[in-house]
Amino acid sequence: MRIFAEMKIERWADIVPLTTFGIPARAAALVRWTDADDLRQVMADESLPRPLKAIGGGSNLLFTSDFEGTILLREAPEGERFVPGLPVSGAMVLDEFCRQAAEAGVRGPENLSGIPGTIGGALVQNAGAYGAEIGEFLAAARLFDTVSGEVLTVSRDWMRFAYRHSRLKEESGRYIIVDALFEFADDAPARLEYGNLSRELQGAEPTAQAVRDAVIRVRNSKLPQPAEVGSAGSFFRNPEVDPAMLEPEMPRFILPSGLAKVPAAWLIDRCGFKGARRGGAMVWPQQPLVICNPEFKATAADVVALENEIIGAVKERFNITLLPEVEHL
Ligand code: EPU
Repeated sequence: MRIFAEMKIERWADIVPLTTFGIPARAAALVRWTDADDLRQVMADESLPRPLKAIGGGSNLLFTSDFEGTILLREAPEGERFVPGLPVSGAMVLDEFCRQAAEAGVRGPENLSGIPGTIGGALVQNAGAYGAEIGEFLAAARLFDTVSGEVLTVSRDWMRFAYRHSRLKEESGRYIIVDALFEFADDAPARLEYGNLSRELQGAEPTAQAVRDAVIRVRNSKLPQPAEVGSAGSFFRNPEVDPAMLEPEMPRFILPSGLAKVPAAWLIDRCGFKGARRGGAMVWPQQPLVICNPEFKATAADVVALENEIIGAVKERFNITLLPEVEHL
C-alpha cells in the first residue's frame, strides 16, 4: 500500500485567481493534485468537505456564492509539450496545445485557437469555435472514476459529444479527466466556412498557422481580452428551436435534426442589451452573448441580475428561453 504523500490542501481559499470571470468567491477547501493516487487520497479524506469539484482553467464557471465543498485543481506537468500521437494531460492549456499543433503543421485544432481554459475543461463541455469542436478529434481519454477510484480508458463514442455537451456533464462530478489522446487526419482540408475566416485570410494559403492567426484576429475583434476584462466567454447557449417559431428576419442555422439554431447574440442585441450595465456587470458591446466584468468590480448578484433580465426580455419578445452556457456553482 502506498504511503500517501503530503497533499497541498488550502482551507477557505480565494478562488478568484482560478477563474477568468474575476467574481469574488472562496472555496471551503482547495486541493492541488497531480495523479490518480492524489485523487484516491482525496476520496479517503473525510476532513475534505463535499461536494468535490474538479476545475480546469475556470473559464466557464460562475461561483454564485462561496463554494462549500472541495475544489480539485490539477497541477500541470512542468514544460509539457504536444507531441503528435502521444497523450496530453487534462491540465494542458488548450491554446498552448493549438499553438504547438499549428507550429508542428498539424491541422485540426487551429480553429479552436484563443479559447481560454484547459484540455480537460474543453472536453467536458466540448468547446467549439469557427466550425470545429474539440470532441471530434478525441481518440481516447483516461478518466478517474470517483465512484470506483479506478482510472478507465474511454473512446470518443463513449463521451457522447454534442453541442457544448459530453457524457461528463450528464454524470456531473463522477469522472475527472486525467489525460487525452487526439488524432488528426493528415489530409484534412482547412475549415474556413464559418464567419468571415476566408475574408480574414485575404487569399493567403490556409496553413494551420495562417488559420490560427486569422481565428485569433477575429476573436480579438469581438471578444474581450481575458487578461483585461473578466468574463466566462459566451454566457448563453445558442437556442435550438422549432423553425415554425421563427420570425422571418431571424438569422438561423438549420440542424440535421430539423431544429433551427438561432444566434443568442442576435436575440440579446434585438432586446437592446449591448453595453447594458447592472452594478459591475456588463453586456459586451461587440458580442452581446458575453456578460463581462470590465473593472473586476462585479459581484455574482450583479451578473445573475443581468442574466435574469436578459432571459426575461428574450422570452417576452421572442418566446424563446435562453439557457446559460456558463456553469453556475
Ligand atoms: N450577432 C448579432 N449581434 C452581435 C453579434 C452577433 O446579431 O452584436 C449575431 C449575428 O447574426 C452573428 C451571430 O450572432 O452572425 C453569430 O455570432 P458569432 O459568429 O460571433 O458566434 P456566436 O454564435 O455568437 C459561437 C460560440 C462562441 C464561438 C463563436 C465562433 C456558443 C454559445 N458560442 O458564438 O463560443 O467563439 O460561435 O465560433 O456557441 C464560448 O463558448 O465561450 C464562445 C465564445
